[in-house]
Amino acid sequence: MKNIAVIGSGTMGNGIAHTFAQFGYQVNLIDINDDALKKAISTIEKNLDRQLNKGTLSEAEKTATLASITTLTDMRTGVAQADLIVEAATENLELKLKIFKDLDAFAKPDAILASNTSSISITQIASVTGRGDKVIGMHFMNPVPVMKLVEVIRGYATSDATTESVMALSEKLAKVPVEVNDYPGFIANRILMPMINEAIYSLYENVAGVEEIDTVMKLGMAHPMGPLQLADFIGLDVCLAILRVLQDGFGNPKYAPCPLLVNMVMAGNKGIKSGEGFYNYTNGVKEAVVAAKFAR
Ligand SMILES: NC(=O)c1ccc[n+]([C@@H]2O[C@H](COP(=O)([O-])OP(=O)(O)OC[C@H]3O[C@@H](n4cnc5c(N)ncnc54)[C@H](O)[C@@H]3O)[C@@H](O)[C@H]2O)c1
Repeated sequence: MKNIAVIGSGTMGNGIAHTFAQFGYQVNLIDINDDALKKAISTIEKNLDRQLNKGTLSEAEKTATLASITTLTDMRTGVAQADLIVEAATENLELKLKIFKDLDAFAKPDAILASNTSSISITQIASVTGRGDKVIGMHFMNPVPVMKLVEVIRGYATSDATTESVMALSEKLAKVPVEVNDYPGFIANRILMPMINEAIYSLYENVAGVEEIDTVMKLGMAHPMGPLQLADFIGLDVCLAILRVLQDGFGNPKYAPCPLLVNMVMAGNKGIKSGEGFYNYTNGVKEAVVAAKFAR
């Protein structure tokens, strides 16, 4: 594999493009939004500078990485030569089904089509293509250039050859791939989201406050960040959407999102991206805020 196309140049897409380019692949980074592409390149430049300052990358490697990334808004042109396409567009089922239908029509017949989805069924995505054996999940973690894990998700029809090739490719990016089967939430979110939900329930039931809950998990379980702060980082709307996927997918009420989480998302408090979630991030400080009025 030599040519990679990445669909979507947001938080994840720019990191995925950065990582492939850094390890010598030619990358076409595709987005429908030209401003998103410009922002992605400037983010990649900033992140490469950070690696340069840390001494983990040379000036020549930085230049070569940037030179290996081409940005485009036309998907048909952008994917035509790709050996692997990694889709990292907005998390929306209808959108992803449309993209994969198009990718199946535009990409080379032997190209592998991967999705970075956090929660949508790979089996369902594969079902709209005529190459289910070559559709797979490649779930990178944020920030992509730093985080070691790639959760490799086998859909019902994914072949051994496709899985082996994506596992080997992930290792070439200095990542650690882990193979999992396609069930709601895969492994990462099936385990993480109920933990976050339980932390929110503990707050909702007034068992302890925001800082106390996070401190217990940081100092007691050696987690680098507490579950409520992590939820703010991920986005409370994203956490809610994933819990709904688990609840619907398993039909089990144990995944029902805490009413406090539902309230916060409805109120527009989505975590860091909206300036406030369980903490307030305005004025450059992080301050626990969930008011007592929200808790039971
Ligand atoms: N943010 C995370 O921490 C994280 C972690 C793992 C996986 N994911 C998954 O990665 C994917 C992307 O998430 P994100 O956080 O980078 O989202 P984002 O909103 O930051 O970026 C999405 C990008 O997709 C673009 N886009 C929308 N429709 C498109 C189309 N038809 N063609 C090309 N580009 C299109 C948008 O313009 C936007 O730039 C989602 O499936 C998400 O579930 C996110």
